[in-house]
Amino acid sequence: MHVYLDGAYRERALASVSVDDRGFLFGDGAYEVIRVVNGRLVALDRHARRLRRTLDGLSIAPPAEAGTDALTAIIAELLARDALRDGEALIYVQITRGAAPRTHQFPIPDVRPTVYVAAAAFTPPRALRERGASVITHPDIRWGRCDLKTVNLLPNTLAKQRAVEAGADEAVLVREGVVTEGSTSNIFAVIDGELRTHPLTTHILGGVTREVTVEAAAALGVPTREAPVLLEELPHAEELFLTSTTNDVMPIARVDGQPVGTGRPGPVTLRLHHAVAERLGME
Ligand code: PDD
Repeated sequence: MHVYLDGAYRERALASVSVDDRGFLFGDGAYEVIRVVNGRLVALDRHARRLRRTLDGLSIAPPAEAGTDALTAIIAELLARDALRDGEALIYVQITRGAAPRTHQFPIPDVRPTVYVAAAAFTPPRALRERGASVITHPDIRWGRCDLKTVNLLPNTLAKQRAVEAGADEAVLVREGVVTEGSTSNIFAVIDGELRTHPLTTHILGGVTREVTVEAAAALGVPTREAPVLLEELPHAEELFLTSTTNDVMPIARVDGQPVGTGRPGPVTLRLHHAVAERLGME
């Protein structure tokens, strides 16, 4: 297996990052996870746009690798080197502010950002999609810029761990009674026949799959409102589903042990799953 690190392709086992890297010391960096289907990068433009938006939010000058063309070339090389052009793969891209002696303020002068890209084979969670995921609700203790996709993921990892310990697949985060998103996904509800998801604010990540799902719902004429879903509304939801790069549209079968609707993936969820998969070129 190979990775791209700071301008060179290396054997994964031989690649290393400085102990002074600000990603390591402060979580000072941006990342993206991109799906690849038979060598084709799924929604690359949207991921690259969000990556540059995160870098801008962190005041990290975008390196050349944050551009769509450079990123495409690097990923193509990794897929070729590791025989990942057939079937499914996931790409991980991380850009940190770079390595410099530890001070909270940014280094002066600027240092070169650390750029890391890796590819790995991926198997979509098809069996889970058929039966539906189990989720727990969990307090959203994250910071005020959840719209930036940073590597500062401690609240997310803690919430996911609680979910796994509870035998669930995802933690759904709740801030002051409002359902924001999952620890690694966005969430949609069907309530009184209307599709609802948290609006794009600084309290959620603007998911690429979320965006495509909203577009697909509009095209299908599914009544949709980008408005908060309250924790107290969850037991009354007819359908719930998660969206993310790794899950596509993932039905939720249980919340905190209670069945959602019939306890089986619902009709709106299934229609949107197919429509989103088609839009992303996965069907
Ligand atoms: N997570 N919200 C959060 C907090 C996320 O971490 C993610 C993605 C999403 C969904 O975004 P998208 O549809 O663009 O994948 C929403 C990735 C997959 C991860 O951290 O591995």
